[in-house]
Amino acid sequence: MKMILDLDTGIDDTFALMYAIANPDIQLLGVTGSFGNVTRDQGIHNDLALLSMVGHQEIPVFKGECHPLFSDNFTVSEGCEIFHGKNGTGDVEIPAKSIGSVQPQSAIDFIIQSVKTYGKDVTLVPTGSLTTMARVIQQAPELISKMHIVMMGGAAIQAGNNDKFAECNIAQDPDAADVVLSSGADITMVGLDVTMQTYTTQAFINKVRALGNTQATFFADMCDFYIKASNPYVPACAQDTFVLHDPLAVGVAFNPQYVRCVDVPLRVDTEEPGRGRIISDPLEVMAKKTPVHVALEVQNETFVSHLEETLYSFFTSFSEKE
Ligand code: BDR
Ligand code: CA
Repeated sequence: MKMILDLDTGIDDTFALMYAIANPDIQLLGVTGSFGNVTRDQGIHNDLALLSMVGHQEIPVFKGECHPLFSDNFTVSEGCEIFHGKNGTGDVEIPAKSIGSVQPQSAIDFIIQSVKTYGKDVTLVPTGSLTTMARVIQQAPELISKMHIVMMGGAAIQAGNNDKFAECNIAQDPDAADVVLSSGADITMVGLDVTMQTYTTQAFINKVRALGNTQATFFADMCDFYIKASNPYVPACAQDTFVLHDPLAVGVAFNPQYVRCVDVPLRVDTEEPGRGRIISDPLEVMAKKTPVHVALEVQNETFVSHLEETLYSFFTSFSEKE
């Protein structure tokens, strides 16, 4: 399957990128860089360095939007720095041999061109702010019926993780998220409702570390940072786990059977006090407006074993090359 990843390359975005590259059935057409966990430019630096680290510099990286629709600038929040470090990879340096260059074409133009060429055969997977995706929709509304999006973001039933209403990716740019979710495109929302049930463990990260190669060591160091940062915020039963927000979106894009969805037209509340909250408008429900597929149940064990097997064999391959 063909995929474009739109990342705000923090730690679970890096995890998602590794998982997508490790899966031989996914053809990653490109990576587009957005803001959120880090600035757009830090995220793009991370993408280029990560692709070099794993020997996949043929995958092009494009510049997405660098600030939300409602502002001319963007600053990384304290919360994002706590979970992702100042550089987005838990303050662990990415061991890249050489760093390639970002493409001259913008992310918006690249996505428009890809959807024109492949239609729904390319799955767009945003795992950060939805600003770039909103700009695509605003610039090329004629492509809406050809767009297939599987996004990490939102919380339909659960409380938010940015504040009690909003999930972090939606909170980065609620207006953009509203443009996307109410557009009528074919969208699966992989939100906190399912991602908070989906995690790997410190034991798996330790198993990857034991491989001993450069790439595995980087990955384990980065994941250790995230686990340590998360521990104070999760209950005793979930200590030493790594919540797989962004990797689950990649998993669902690859295999929709990992989740069960309820179809409902959605909007994003853009007004205070609930700015960033996922809502559905009863009148739009009655009018049978094009629904979003909202993931509410997840085949956790099947997904996590696929993810762990795929990543373990991917990181093993670097030991063979060393
Ligand atoms: C989402 O917010 C970001 O910080 C993570 O990378 C993930 O995409 C989880 O709410
Ligand atoms: Ca993300």
